[in-house]
Amino acid sequence: MNAPEARGAHSHDTLDVTARGRYGARPMIDVTHPELVELPARIEGERVVVRPYTRHDGAAIFEAVTSSCERLSRWLPWPKNHVDVRFSEAYAVRCAARWMARDDLAVGLFDPHGRLVGGSGIHRLDWKARNGEIGYWLRDDAEGRGYVLDAVKLLTALAFERLGMARVKIRCDRANTRSAAVPARLGYVLEATLRHDRVDLDGVTPADTLEYGLVRADLDALPWYADARARVLAAPL
Ligand SMILES: CC(C)(COP(=O)(O)OP(=O)(O)OC[C@H]1O[C@@H](n2cnc3c(N)ncnc32)[C@H](O)[C@@H]1OP(=O)(O)O)[C@@H](O)C(=O)NCCC(=O)NCCS
Repeated sequence: MNAPEARGAHSHDTLDVTARGRYGARPMIDVTHPELVELPARIEGERVVVRPYTRHDGAAIFEAVTSSCERLSRWLPWPKNHVDVRFSEAYAVRCAARWMARDDLAVGLFDPHGRLVGGSGIHRLDWKARNGEIGYWLRDDAEGRGYVLDAVKLLTALAFERLGMARVKIRCDRANTRSAAVPARLGYVLEATLRHDRVDLDGVTPADTLEYGLVRADLDALPWYADARARVLAAPL
């Protein structure tokens, strides 16, 4: 039973009868109990493999984050927390537990040789509103190879096809042009520029946030979506 329509049918859920287009109809995913939503253990993209962390990823996470800490810390608050391998191992275990509970879906990005090149995930899940937010980072020597574009395609399709999401967003600092290029390249819609909606990581400088979004009605127009969807649906649950 590979077709999502055939699984998880539930009286709390309905197909979106107002939907239009090829991907307009929402798969019948029961979000009343997110813990029961079935997810693939790994998804293979064109360039990366995406899978949830296990405890054994701790050393690779520590090495990737600490080797790139300076660059990552310009935009992210957490890299400096990885002070030793045990912290990274504990982080991996926490991510695995949250994945299991469908509470937060962090994944590692692995190149064809199985090397951890970065991380991504679907975060801030709101199962009632069927919304989630994709985030990402790469180690220094993995930038500029299309790994994150590839991963975001897969996670977007995962969100719409396996989580039954209605909207997926990507937010970044307005000054983080490299990050903003990811959703822009993929055809995400720039929905808002939130001026001075928070402060920079220095804790004082006002900063602007860009918010990009996709809803189901946008999917037909995305040239990459059919391939990403096929990869997600082909991944064993
Ligand atoms: C944001 C970040 C993940 C983007 O990394 P990235 O390397 O630009 O993104 P991708 O992996 O998708 O690669 C795209 C680049 O690979 C190039 N590329 C090379 N081969 C490619 C291929 N086969 N397919 C697609 N792109 C390819 C693209 O041209 C593009 O490079 P360019 O921007 O110089 O033109 C990275 O800069 C990062 O880790 N930043 C710090 C953390 C951060 O800011 N996270 C986001 C917080 S909101």
